[in-house]
Amino acid sequence: MGKRILLLGAPGAGKGTQSKRLAETYGVEHVTTGDALRANKDMETEYGTPRSFMEKGELVPDAVVNEIVEAALADADGYVLDGYPRNLSQAEYLTEITDLDAVIYLKVAESELVERLTGRRVCDDCGTNFHVKFNQPEEEGVCDDCGGELVQRDDDTEETVRERLSVFEENTEPVIEHYRDEGVLVEVDGEQTPDEVFEDIRSVVDDA
Ligand code: AP5
Ligand code: MG
Ligand code: ZN
Repeated sequence: MGKRILLLGAPGAGKGTQSKRLAETYGVEHVTTGDALRANKDMETEYGTPRSFMEKGELVPDAVVNEIVEAALADADGYVLDGYPRNLSQAEYLTEITDLDAVIYLKVAESELVERLTGRRVCDDCGTNFHVKFNQPEEEGVCDDCGGELVQRDDDTEETVRERLSVFEENTEPVIEHYRDEGVLVEVDGEQTPDEVFEDIRSVVDDA
């Protein structure tokens, strides 16, 4: 069985950046509720569309995301889970459906998060992340990996970023405390370079 890795962190902490590398290195699935929801933004659910929540920086209802995660994990031989669980009720649900080999918290200060998110650019085709200052593509506006167009996410405006950070503080910090209390949380300094962060995560996963 492949490794089952949970990567926790605030919006902009680098979950997507590191998950992509982990999935390639360990040959596991990258399971990310954010990307899954973005690919189905206008899907009608009994609560409304994902878009109606995401544009405001609010959480999409648990029933919708729980179903996405359960289906994705059922098909995966090992995974890195990114963007879930985001509140205690999702954490309880996760405990019911799977065991975890490693629980990692990417720690980054709030002032740094705002700059990372407002400067982020994402490839429209393959989803690779870049940053106007910290992680520039070779050619402005063009993806290094696939040549696709780099765009800004709808929820990366300063106002929505502030809302996402407050939703994180209220709903997701208790999830981090929950895993800390269980004694399984390993904290990684997310303010190092992406390569250094990756090395730290890798040593945690290799020991797991
Ligand atoms: P989601 O897509 O999960 O967004 P998020 O959690 O806000 O996190 P981000 O994707 O913005 O950041 P990241 O940690 O992946 O950082 P990244 O690697 O890109 O969720 C979006 C929305 O969907 C939510 O608001 C909600 O509405 C909904 N949703 C999703 N999951 C849900 C759930 N479980 N329940 C309910 N609703 C849900 O890096 C950020 C930037 O920093 C990039 O530009 C990158 O190049 C740069 N960077 C990365 N690492 C470094 C580094 N070490 N140094 C300098 N720069 C770096
Ligand atoms: Mg992400
Ligand atoms: Zn690309």
